This record gives sequence, C-alpha cells and structure tokens, in this order.
Amino acid sequence: MTQATGAHTDHEASHGFEPERRARALVEALPYIRRFRGAVVVVKYGGHAMTDAALAASFARDIVLVRSVGLHPVVVHGGAPQIAEHLRKLGKQSEFRDGLRVTDAETLEVARMVLVGKVGRDIVSAINASGGAALGLSGEDGRLVTAVRRDPALGFVGDVAAVNPGVIERLVTREIVPVVSSIGADTGGQAYNINADTMAAALAGALGAAKVVYLTDVPGLLADPADVSSLVSRATVTEVEAMVTSGAVSGGMIPKARACVDAVLQGAGSAHMLDGRIPHAVLLELFTDAGIGTMITRNHEEAGDGSGASSKETREDET
Ligand SMILES: Nc1ncnc2c1ncn2[C@@H]1O[C@H](COP(=O)(O)OP(=O)(O)OP(=O)(O)O)[C@@H](O)[C@H]1O
Ligand SMILES: [Mg+2]
Repeated sequence: MTQATGAHTDHEASHGFEPERRARALVEALPYIRRFRGAVVVVKYGGHAMTDAALAASFARDIVLVRSVGLHPVVVHGGAPQIAEHLRKLGKQSEFRDGLRVTDAETLEVARMVLVGKVGRDIVSAINASGGAALGLSGEDGRLVTAVRRDPALGFVGDVAAVNPGVIERLVTREIVPVVSSIGADTGGQAYNINADTMAAALAGALGAAKVVYLTDVPGLLADPADVSSLVSRATVTEVEAMVTSGAVSGGMIPKARACVDAVLQGAGSAHMLDGRIPHAVLLELFTDAGIGTMITRNHEEAGDGSGASSKETREDET
C-alpha cells in the first residue's frame, strides 16, 4: 500500500527535503490554488480518522492553510467511535444496519451530545488554535438541515429533506470555517441522527461544492474490502452503484459510497475518498498531481476535471 508507507514520514521527510523540492511543492500547488480559489470544498472528517491526536492537529492546520489560500473549506464530521465509547459507559450498545446506527431516544441524546458538545468542539478549537476562525454548528442551527425520518425501524435516524445553504454561505464569505455536526431536526423540532457522509453530500450538493472529500480509515474504495491493494482509483457513479448492489461495499462504506454518488449527482464537481491516516491527505488531494484515494465523477469524461490531468495542462501553460 503506497499511501501507508508515507504515514510516518511527515517530519522526517521535511528535514530531508532539499530547498528545491520544497519550492517545487509550492509551485506545483499554484494551478490548483488558482483553479479552486473561491470554491467551496466540503471535507468529511471521519470518526475513525480523527482518533489520533497528532493527525487531528495536522488536519486542523491543513484546513487553515486551505482557507488561507482562498478556498472555502466546510468541515462535516462524524464520530462513531466517540459515540460508541459514551454509550459503553452507559452500558448501551448499538446495532448497525447497512452502516447506519439504530437510534433510540437515549442513543439520539448521546449522539447529539457527543457530536455537538464534544467532537465538534474539539475540531473547532484545533482549527482556531492553528490560527483559523472556525464556528461549530449542527444541522439544527439556522435551520441548516431539515431532517425527515428515514425508516421507522432505525428509530431517530434522519435523512436530509432540505438544506438552507445561506447559513454556510454567509459564514464562508466572512472567512469563517463552518464545522458541522451531523444532527438535523424536522419541521416540528424533533432532532435526528444523520449519517455524516449523507450530510456532507447534501451540503456539497446544495453549496455547489467543487469537491467533497471523505477522510476515512481505509485507502479508499476497495474492490475487495479484505485486500488494501485493490484500491479503485477512479469510478463513475454507475460503477459505484454497481459495487454497492454487488455487495463489494459493506458496513460504513455503504452510506459513504451512496453519499459520493448523491453529491456528484446533486452538482458537486467530484467526490473523493481518502485515507485520513495519511498526514496532509487533504493537501495532497487538493494541491498536488498525486491523486490519492478514490475519485468519483458523474461519467468518464469528467474524470479529468478538478484533478491532476487538466490541471497539469494549466501548469504547463504557466511554466
Ligand atoms: N469495499 C470497501 N472498501 C473500503 N472500505 C470498506 C468496503 N466495504 C466496507 N468497508 C468498511 O468501511 C469502513 C469505513 O466506514 P466507517 O463508517 O467505519 O468510517 P468513517 O465513515 O470514516 O467514520 P464515521 O462513521 O465515524 O464518520 C472501513 O473501515 C471498512 O472497514
Ligand atoms: Mg461512517
């Protein structure tokens, strides 16, 4: 697995870097910075990718950098491990169906408390500690996300019925980084637990995001989940849908794969699944020719958009 070998080389590599290579990395970023300047990029930060403290701090710095060079990052976070830990303390366990947590009233209360009051806070303070201005909110704030019950058998699991993107648009134009917890409320004020991948896709669609990036704990979409070398680097929505139907995708990857498809169909330029355990995964995806993880586009023709291929042309024009 090529990606994983770079995981521990963050500081070592920078010490070994000769000045030329450092400068080249900055120059390589230029066409991407110009291309995505002013664009919204939704970054879904997975509960599993955020459990390492050093990586969490590095993620926060990367988000501040993305904002500082003129993009508009919007962070949406999950928190499955953190919710599980709190439920365990209460002697409760969750059942998952197709990657979704069956949510009774007590589980909803814990999920809402942990996501909004703990996980979201930690991300906000990490971004702010890196010099950014992050503001935490859930789908309940400013009626950002109107939820609707998904399936009575899942309890208080919500789906996104409507998004009020104006709340986020106003924040990003004031250089604030919104950090969104995946809770929504229905029109009567009842809160719902919304899968964070689903929430990120709905926001990416409503905001017309150039990209939606899912940071997770695997290299990307795997043709065979047991084999990390079976990474699918590019796929169309039809191909991803086929993988869900065939059963190649299971557990938490089901809502994530569906979310990538929905985001792209709703207007996001492309959807990406990356290994959040790789330091600076977001920067590698946005600002380099590397093209890590899995990229999902509407069709094959669009596969060049927003990624290495066409940007390389821009770069050649400029150099
Ligand atoms: N075909 C597949 N390719 C890749 N991962 C898969 C596949 N099928 C199932 N998975 C599982 O999906 C998991 C990722 O989803 P998961 O919901 O656990 O994490 P997350 O979405 O990053 O975090 P959170 O749910 O806390 O926000 C992987 O760890 C892997 O075990
Ligand atoms: Mg998940």
